[in-house]
Amino acid sequence: MELKASQMEFTVAIDGPAAAGKGTIARALADKFGFAYLDTGLLYRAVAAKGGDPVQAAMGLTPQDLARDDLRTLAAGQAASRVAAMPQVRAALTAFQRQFARSAGGAVLDGRDIGTVICPMAEVKLYVTSSAEVRAERRWRETGGDLAQVLAEVRERDARDMGRADAPLRPAEDSVLIDTTELTIEQAVDLACAAVLARFPERTIP
Ligand code: C5P
Repeated sequence: MELKASQMEFTVAIDGPAAAGKGTIARALADKFGFAYLDTGLLYRAVAAKGGDPVQAAMGLTPQDLARDDLRTLAAGQAASRVAAMPQVRAALTAFQRQFARSAGGAVLDGRDIGTVICPMAEVKLYVTSSAEVRAERRWRETGGDLAQVLAEVRERDARDMGRADAPLRPAEDSVLIDTTELTIEQAVDLACAAVLARFPERTIP
């Protein structure tokens, strides 16, 4: 029996450090294949921005919390990586992410622990990275400010995300590595599409 694409469960897990291009690739895959997209970094940013007890904030997160317009700043990213090191905060956000990952029609999630902890059974796992210098420069083009300071913050966040005890950032063993340091956006997206197509159920009809 053929499977309708709209009924299919298919998860693409994208992990990697800040400003490596995960979001751009995730959105491109969502557009091309009709997947639902969840930027999981936004959950941690919203928890930190809410203030008060981070565990309570994570347990009571609402769609309005995710719609704030101050979540994309460098400071919000730094604050997010601090609350993200708390195991109870991570635990409070796990069920929602796992449920999202099984959305009908497929889902793509990007973050730090999607392939390793949230969705270890994901059909496709990508680890998207690039040099700290290139990532800092990309971020600096978006935010302005002092490039050396942005680079220092990128390195600080990498160290915190990779060094924490609970769900540290690392590539899943079965992930496809995409190093975007010397790739254009189109080249990186093409590699990601190829990885998805390689695992797409043959009998799926659009
Ligand atoms: O991806 P983004 O830069 O928005 O993530 C902000 C912070 O949230 C990260 O530096 C990381 O500490 C945390 N995070 C996480 N696990 C995820 C997504 C984000 O720990 N799945």
